[in-house]
Amino acid sequence: MATHPLIVAPSILASDFARFGEEVRAIDAAGADWVHIDIMDGHFVPNISFGPDVVKAIRPLTTKFFDVHLMIAPADPYLEAFAKAGADLITVHAEAGPHLHRSLQAIRALGKKAGVALNPATPASAVEHVLGLVDLVLVMTVNPGFGGQAFLPSMMDKVRQIKAMIGERPIHIEIDGGVTAETAPLCAAAGGDVLVAGSAVFKGGAAAYAGNIAGIRHAAERAIGTLV
Ligand code: DX5
Ligand code: ZN
Repeated sequence: MATHPLIVAPSILASDFARFGEEVRAIDAAGADWVHIDIMDGHFVPNISFGPDVVKAIRPLTTKFFDVHLMIAPADPYLEAFAKAGADLITVHAEAGPHLHRSLQAIRALGKKAGVALNPATPASAVEHVLGLVDLVLVMTVNPGFGGQAFLPSMMDKVRQIKAMIGERPIHIEIDGGVTAETAPLCAAAGGDVLVAGSAVFKGGAAAYAGNIAGIRHAAERAIGTLV
């Protein structure tokens, strides 16, 4: 069995909400490694998506890893609800509250993997003191709030800095925003190993999803020389 050095995580924010369950099943069948679930509150980001009940509703439809990206402030009052809804990993933004350690400790206390996310304007140093508490660092390559925005290549410097900071520790680096088959090679070459993609996966109808996911995966793997 081939193992994927790279994890492709379709963002279901870009799916057809009228057919949400079918869309989750479709990306599962199309080879998604993780399901990236964007939670927006209209306060931390200028858009509203959905809450824990929706996550709970799709949980029985796939066994894939649920990667929950909280773009909400405050996050702490909702961590338990997302954990109970079936999240495997919960990511909070470093900018979302004054007590980042507390949020990350709370996620781990709920038995879930913990992630920390950085907006484009936030420096790599913001995660330096929490690396002992996280399983993943998410680097935003757009300003969060909407799918379909243009990738910010200048964030690749930040990815390299975080990769160096992490060293040998088993911490994923996730890249989120504007990831396509064209930008995925930059992400992988800089050290990203979890690639989130919304628009680039959910285009062309369900019949195209497998090709879209494979296109991103192969472009990234080629960039780091793991494609055989
Ligand atoms: C942006 C979200 C992303 C978004 C990515 O606020 O965190 O996960 O859905 O969408 P694309 O891939 O279309 O930029
Ligand atoms: Zn996201």
